[in-house]
Amino acid sequence: MNERTVAPTLVVIFGITGDLSRRKLLPALWQLFRAGALPEQFRIIGFARRTLDAQAVRALVRDALGGGVESADDVALAHFLDLFSYQQGRFDELAQYRALGERLTETERAFGAPANRLFYLAVAPAHYEALFEALEKSGLARAEGARATRILVEKPFGRDARTAQALDDKLAALFGEEQIYRIDHYLAKETVQNILNFRFSNFIFESLWSKEGIEKVHIELLETIGIEGRGEFYGDTGALRDVGQNHVLQLLAMVAMQNPGQFDAAHIRAARAAALRTLRPIEDLARQAVRGQYEGFVDEPGVAKGSQAETYFKLRAFLDDDAWEGVPFILESGKRLAERTTRITIYFKNAARALCSIDEGNGCQNTLTFEVQPEEGITVGFWAKKPGFSQELERRALHFSYARGAERRAPEAYERVLYDAIRGDQTLFASTEEVHASWRFITPILDAWHALPLEPYAPGSRGPESRNSL
Ligand code: BG6
Repeated sequence: MNERTVAPTLVVIFGITGDLSRRKLLPALWQLFRAGALPEQFRIIGFARRTLDAQAVRALVRDALGGGVESADDVALAHFLDLFSYQQGRFDELAQYRALGERLTETERAFGAPANRLFYLAVAPAHYEALFEALEKSGLARAEGARATRILVEKPFGRDARTAQALDDKLAALFGEEQIYRIDHYLAKETVQNILNFRFSNFIFESLWSKEGIEKVHIELLETIGIEGRGEFYGDTGALRDVGQNHVLQLLAMVAMQNPGQFDAAHIRAARAAALRTLRPIEDLARQAVRGQYEGFVDEPGVAKGSQAETYFKLRAFLDDDAWEGVPFILESGKRLAERTTRITIYFKNAARALCSIDEGNGCQNTLTFEVQPEEGITVGFWAKKPGFSQELERRALHFSYARGAERRAPEAYERVLYDAIRGDQTLFASTEEVHASWRFITPILDAWHALPLEPYAPGSRGPESRNSL
């Protein structure tokens, strides 16, 4: 599709004054605008509780772009800011939704054509219900004629299997699955998308891609940052809900899924969901899980004294799937750790141990690593002869870096999210099946979680002591 011929589109950002909007959405929209990737007829309407006039909302947008604007961009910036308008309102205040509706209709009139409507919920989940209800009662979300309406919902989708189901039932009463865009921004990261392209276009690896060739898979989402002022939310949520149920399991799905057959949203989402459905419930938590909390967490602002929320987890999971029988998937994530890295390492089986002179662990084990961040790349670990007269081996790496030699910058995850939602492509959004399958795996762990010791670890360390047992 030619980028400029996308249907006229109106984006409503609920919570435009909030953190997510300012840190991610507004800069992403600006980048898309600069790249000419927004539709010709396009407007953004902010909706929030604060009273702001048009000028103040533009100042807020300008402020959110921070250093992302060069002085040479002045003209473009003025055009960009002109795309914004604002509707003040509480999320449960029907009258203000009517006013919003009038704005939308007026803009369509100015376009001379019906416009697709995207409703972006950049608000705390506590407001979801009121918002859904108001959208329904006001009739704003109704798709009519040529006009498509879509809703973009941020995680968390519920707190467990039951609440996720209840949330989804509410959504489903209002919108069809093809209108619901459940955001998991990890799916929209460049290297995560590349896992599929890499796997299914390079048969040297895909032919080994099962228990036949793979010994284990390690998925790490390690952060150096703490909870960044989100004490109240995090103290009640913990790492497993915050990133385990969604980002980490989506990475697992990308590795474990079967070939989708076709490269479209329906096939890819179905293949990811099928992989997640094979997750075997953890049978022995004491042997298959570690949970930890960094020292000083309970003193963070907003965290309840004595909070038992984990800031670190490590799980050893298995899939009930012939292809993956016996292959452990080690899932690990934590805050305030020694390094910031998200990567997936595939450890291959070593078929020819006899010829390998390496004595350590698994001999000459080959690895393949997808580096998601901070550097985006792919590394193959292999063994080569040390230069010299002996036959000694040493570990070497073939490394591909996205940044090096790149002709184009890779879009940020939220640029991708908005770009795809504007075009109606759901590939990189979680389906209801995926969300439910991951909660089915996570909920029993959460139910038994408190029986497992909560191990302290020092901020800046690699995590709790017993992490090495998995
Ligand atoms: C969010 C979590 O979904 O993902 C945060 O709520 C976490 O706690 C963040 O820090 C990590 O995302 P990224 O893109 O910074 O790796």
